Amino acid sequence: MKILILLAAVLLNNNWSFSIGDAASMERDFTHGTEYFTYYSKVMSANHSHAPIMPEFDDSAWQKVSLPHDWAVDLPYSAEASHSHGYKCIGWKYPGNSVGWYRKHLDIPAEDEGKQIWIEFDGIFRNSQVFCNGCYLGGEQSGYTQSSYDLSPYLNYGGDNVITVRCDASTEEGWYYEGAGIYRNVWLHKAGPVSIVPYSLNVNKGKPRFAIKKAGPNVDQKKIRSQLRILDASGKEVAKPEHRWSLEDPYLYTCEIILYYDGKVSERTEVKFGIRDIEFNPEKGFLLNGEPVKLKGCNLHLDHAGVGVAVPDELWRYRILQLKKYGFNAIRWSHNPASPAMLDLCDELGMLVIDENRQMGINDQFDQLQKMIARDLNHPSIILWSIGNEEWAMENSPKGEKLAKLMCEEAHRLDPTRLCTYGNAGGRELVKGVDVFGYNYIVQNPVDEYHEKWTDKLAVGTEETSGAGTRGKYQTVPEEGWMAPLNRRDTVGRINVIEHGWKYYKAEPWRAGLFYWTGQDYRGEPNPMVWPATGSQFGILDYCCYPKDEAFYLKSVWTDEPMVHICGPMNGEIWVYSNCEKVTLYANGKSLGSKKMPKDGHLVWNVPASAGRFSARGFVRGKQVADDIWPEVVTGTQVIVSKQVLKPDGQDVAVLDIISPEESLSVSVENAEFLGWGNGNPGFKEIERPVPGTSEPMAIKPFGNRAQVLVRSIEGCSGAISVTIGDQVISTIRYSTPAVLAYKE
Ligand code: GAL
Repeated sequence: MKILILLAAVLLNNNWSFSIGDAASMERDFTHGTEYFTYYSKVMSANHSHAPIMPEFDDSAWQKVSLPHDWAVDLPYSAEASHSHGYKCIGWKYPGNSVGWYRKHLDIPAEDEGKQIWIEFDGIFRNSQVFCNGCYLGGEQSGYTQSSYDLSPYLNYGGDNVITVRCDASTEEGWYYEGAGIYRNVWLHKAGPVSIVPYSLNVNKGKPRFAIKKAGPNVDQKKIRSQLRILDASGKEVAKPEHRWSLEDPYLYTCEIILYYDGKVSERTEVKFGIRDIEFNPEKGFLLNGEPVKLKGCNLHLDHAGVGVAVPDELWRYRILQLKKYGFNAIRWSHNPASPAMLDLCDELGMLVIDENRQMGINDQFDQLQKMIARDLNHPSIILWSIGNEEWAMENSPKGEKLAKLMCEEAHRLDPTRLCTYGNAGGRELVKGVDVFGYNYIVQNPVDEYHEKWTDKLAVGTEETSGAGTRGKYQTVPEEGWMAPLNRRDTVGRINVIEHGWKYYKAEPWRAGLFYWTGQDYRGEPNPMVWPATGSQFGILDYCCYPKDEAFYLKSVWTDEPMVHICGPMNGEIWVYSNCEKVTLYANGKSLGSKKMPKDGHLVWNVPASAGRFSARGFVRGKQVADDIWPEVVTGTQVIVSKQVLKPDGQDVAVLDIISPEESLSVSVENAEFLGWGNGNPGFKEIERPVPGTSEPMAIKPFGNRAQVLVRSIEGCSGAISVTIGDQVISTIRYSTPAVLAYKE
């Protein structure tokens, strides 16, 4: 048996060096671009540059980081900084914080000479320039579009190589926190003389098609052979993939392609895919495999407590699983394409997806749209492409409709199996250009009127109000950044919006469903609050994924697991969410009576101001099946660990959910990285992690009895990981034995 070097993609996330540069002074930006012959005058700036693009540049004083990485996480907050970006000191007002440099040494063996080698970035925020051994390879402006560069002719075979990335986050692309840096995965691809043209593989209908790239003119077509196999979930080859992908059974096949050149493996690729039918029907709404499925969705931005936008794949898993607990079955990735890892998880866990293009347009923007669709079309989870969101100045203009039509035509050319939508803010023109009307809020869109007027168009609530506020708070306290939930505030006509949205979209089959704004809090856009609030409060879960009352409303209407939930006292009332038939409420142990649970609604009891403790019991057919108390009783510190075995790959993550009455807890992590922490406070302004590469203990502060610690594995480590949180020592997490990555022939 011969062991060959794996000719496929390997993750290149570990062992990067990082430093902040300067957007205001090219001299302070390591003199990059100040030389007589800049990187743009000569392909190789040798002898002209002393900047980090040069292999000999000394980066020994730089931070050692693992990707994904978001340097904005470590920056301070200021009332003067961008409201939309969470008051972090980054962007045009802070040029000294807004450029980041990354360097990575790559040892390329001599036997790789003659191979095709390329590097691929799933996302760099933003305006990136990429260099290899001092040579400029190219750049990508958008922080949400993947980019790849052929390294083959630039490499030193049998020697050291340096990849340098400069990125500049001075300009914002979105109106929400976007972070900064190489915040998504990086891949190194190797292939022999022939390879699959990146993203040409289309297995969408179970019949694979792909294009072949030849390394040069001397590659002989007659020596190319390909072997294609469809494997079922157990790895067994099948002739015809027939097992359907569905939400209850997200069954995936693998398409394996091995390209041979002259009898030797040239490239081996695997792509997962699923078999399912989707349809948006003007009368019946959304159908999955012929069955109506109401979209119970949320919008999600990228960032999470402790890590900003640099969310490791395992943390994405955790986040999606939390949403599923409350009955969500769909995500709209607002307002940018998801990463391949995020989509893989939606495929695997059974979540429907709207994948959204960042910027509308048909020039540079076509490139964004094309890359998104070509890369993502094999994911069974994707049900719609979104061409954009709330282009206010274009929504009532024929220009908007023209652009929308051109973008939809291009999307249909690339992927005839899916329709396109757009998040409409109420305009009447642009939206005519798309297939499925996406309504951002019933309150600003005449949904029924449009439905009668354009009967062939379908409808989905791309955004709908959650009505959520700060977790566990029932009073707005501007100086802390806390907000009482809109659902329970006495704002005439707008009260109780979460129920309004669900009842409205549920009522008619043609209304395919809705996507609440948002599933989880994100940093920035703390509207209607301002500094000292730093994070949004629209989330049904907070910034760490801890549930607010609204999560329990959805659980009560979207899941069958018997539950009852007390929302704390506000305006002299207690509200209760439940999916039981009847609920009895007690105040300080005394019954306030039983009430019948209304469909898709809530119960209200007027309560005396003197009552401080409440309990509720939920009954089905006279039998108690659920209970709850308010406030929760937390006596000691309890830690719930998301997983006990971490891969020693520098990427795996355990999420430690902490329930504690303490104001502050000291945390230290041994034999792993303390990646970050959070507590869901929308007024959060703490330091979120130790300086990368150090492991000093740090103090964390629970908020509403909750805090979260993220622990990442270190490449090559073994044995036990020890995490000390206050007086608790968690020593149950350990490393798995590394798997051997080898392709056997
Ligand atoms: C919408 C917009 C979202 C978010 C939201 C906040 O208009 O599409 O991105 O800004 O408002 O209310």
